[in-house]
Amino acid sequence: MEHLIKVTDLCKVYNPGENEVRALDHINLKIDRGEFVAIIGQSGSGKSTFMNMLGCLDTPTSGTYFLNGTDVSTMTDNELSAVRNREIGFIFQGFNLIANLTAEENVELPLIYRGIDKKTRRQLAREALEMVGLSHRMNHKPSEMSGGQQQRVAIARAIAAKPPVILADEPTGNLDSASSKEILSILKDLHKGGRTVILITHDDGIAARAKRVVRIMDGKIESDVINPAFDSMEEEHEKGSIEK
Ligand SMILES: Nc1ncnc2c1ncn2[C@@H]1O[C@H](COP(=O)(O)OP(=O)(O)OP(=O)(O)O)[C@@H](O)[C@H]1O
Ligand SMILES: [Mg+2]
Repeated sequence: MEHLIKVTDLCKVYNPGENEVRALDHINLKIDRGEFVAIIGQSGSGKSTFMNMLGCLDTPTSGTYFLNGTDVSTMTDNELSAVRNREIGFIFQGFNLIANLTAEENVELPLIYRGIDKKTRRQLAREALEMVGLSHRMNHKPSEMSGGQQQRVAIARAIAAKPPVILADEPTGNLDSASSKEILSILKDLHKGGRTVILITHDDGIAARAKRVVRIMDGKIESDVINPAFDSMEEEHEKGSIEK
């Protein structure tokens, strides 16, 4: 079967000309369905630029990006937004929840854009909130929840429609270490459930929770390794449980 993600010679140049910044410089990367990959790099290395490409939020200057067999590198904005809706669940550092909606309503919102009927929406939202251990907080608004709980709502929102790809940009950046652990544990569960999880971070400790670690520097891939410690962390993960 073809790769889920296949990026070939991808370049992104900001401000072409005198002040140009080569934010991505001939990136080649393949990711298969069901992988759990961390993309790590220092500030300015090109992580967010790459995330924008992988998430179909922006198009490259040159090179190609095949997502699920379709070349998305030359699509129009409208076409890209349709692909995003269908294929990708986003998780951001700032949870980006809507303040006056409950947890359940926040999770349901993107399902409305997908044209899913009310009854199915409700069911998908409840399933997703249950998966992140928040069944008992469905009717709470973001201000009534902890940071870790808010991020779990954001994860539920990202996964409710069951998109094949979960793209998380510094998802634990605003969280304390206990909440970060919970979030990483949920990402791992998603991976075990067959989703493809791509985790973007500048933190080695967080990248070490993924099965494969791709390091970028100055817009280039510096290394791409399978994490030898991943399977031994399995046991520890089994023992841990999400705080309700
Ligand atoms: N819109 C833009 N216009 C010009 N240059 C940009 C733009 N966005 C990013 N850059 C430059 O491209 C390079 C990569 O930026 P990017 O935001 O992808 O880095 P990052 O790895 O996400 O960093 P951080 O960890 O600080 O978020 C940087 O040198 C940055 O200054
Ligand atoms: Mg960034």
